[in-house]
Amino acid sequence: MRKENDRITEQKKYLIVTYGCQMNEHDSEKISWILEDMGYILADNREECDLIIYNTCAVRKTAENRVYGQLGELKELKRNKPDLIIAVCGCMMQREEVIDTITSKYGHVDIIFGTNNIHKLPQLISNYNKTKQMTIDILEENREIDESVDANRKYSYKAFVNIMYGCNNFCSYCIVPYTRGRERSREPQNIIEEIKGLASTGYKEITLLGQNVNSYGKTLNIDYSFSDLLKDINDIDGIERIRFMTSHPKDISDELINSYAELDKLCDHLHLPVQSGSNRILKLMNRGYTREEYESIIKKVKLVNPNITLTTDIIVGFPGETEEDFNDTLSLVKEVGFDSAFTFLYSVREGTPAAKMKSQIDDRIKHQRFQQLLDVLHPIGLKKNEKLLGNTLKVLVEDVSKNDKTMLDGRTTGGKLVHFSGGKELIGKIVDVKITSVKTFTLKGVLV
Ligand code: 5AD
Ligand code: SF4
Repeated sequence: MRKENDRITEQKKYLIVTYGCQMNEHDSEKISWILEDMGYILADNREECDLIIYNTCAVRKTAENRVYGQLGELKELKRNKPDLIIAVCGCMMQREEVIDTITSKYGHVDIIFGTNNIHKLPQLISNYNKTKQMTIDILEENREIDESVDANRKYSYKAFVNIMYGCNNFCSYCIVPYTRGRERSREPQNIIEEIKGLASTGYKEITLLGQNVNSYGKTLNIDYSFSDLLKDINDIDGIERIRFMTSHPKDISDELINSYAELDKLCDHLHLPVQSGSNRILKLMNRGYTREEYESIIKKVKLVNPNITLTTDIIVGFPGETEEDFNDTLSLVKEVGFDSAFTFLYSVREGTPAAKMKSQIDDRIKHQRFQQLLDVLHPIGLKKNEKLLGNTLKVLVEDVSKNDKTMLDGRTTGGKLVHFSGGKELIGKIVDVKITSVKTFTLKGVLV
């Protein structure tokens, strides 16, 4: 698929270091495909690399600082191996301030590219090789979706599939609409074709990716919604599990909620970021729904599927968050009974409206509230897991456990991690596991 002159002639090795969300993980799978298509092979460590790529995340400042730390460390490596190409890409690169910092302080970086032009990587490498000058290529916006790039997927039985890119929501704290650009959906037939291809090579589980999957299709000017897409994917032979990430409460339709009853392959899991339980804060966050609306969605979902796993994202310490606002978050968490949550300390992102808001919350208070939130979340998660004791659940076997090679890791349709004893020939298969003990984040069981 690549141009023949992009191919490298000597044996060269690469590594990709990925930060951030599944969208980034999948972008790295695409980058890996591009590089291997050019003739690169995967390196075992940094020292033997000819090309090292950092795929970065800009959602929080801590993620950015980690990348700067890593780039600092690479200075020495580059000094010892001047032919090493260092490239950085991903959300951070869409921020002007970051480009300024890299060009002024990290002159040993060779290639910088953004989220919209991954497909141009071969050209950028060849350009750098000719000029030996830092090559920067950032596209502000890309309305075209490049369908020519495939992905070198990490697993052979579960796959990420992009259904849309970008975000139009502009939550006041979030950098993503600035780094990933405006919302655009892939054509349904391209998505279906990709998934049929995956099914034909043995893939069983598909995770549909988009910043806000509920608004899938809006940019296509056709009468076809996210629920329609789910129905069509449900009909694909070979696919046994469908997941999606992430949906937005303001756009969730009754049709989508009913999919949990109607579509046998749709997993028993809804990840629905709430961010805060306070209506005042939700408004300041520009989330477009109230606590009561969120609660009503959850009620409907539980009616349709009482066994569903409910997970969420919560931000602690948004500007102006009072003790009362925070208590509203705690009470919502108790009321919904989330199985688990991704919890974040609010991080100031320059260029977003929230960064300019008065009364930023003191770090000490943020940390205190964060701990308090975990203290509420964890026992609820444990209690939910305890309900599964003695049940036999369908588990997709994912891998051999990292810490004990005699054990396997797999996931229930609710997305819960299960450890059980078994041989690696079961990887990629769906097996029955009886749950014998539980912890806050994991289940243990035996094959039946
Ligand atoms: N600070 C903290 N958390 C954030 N998120 C997004 N932006 C910020 C920020 N500035 C969190 C939200 C979102 C998740 C992916 O990251 O909870 O749902
Ligand atoms: Fe960010 Fe909000 Fe878009 Fe999610 S929906 S990516 S939090 S702006």
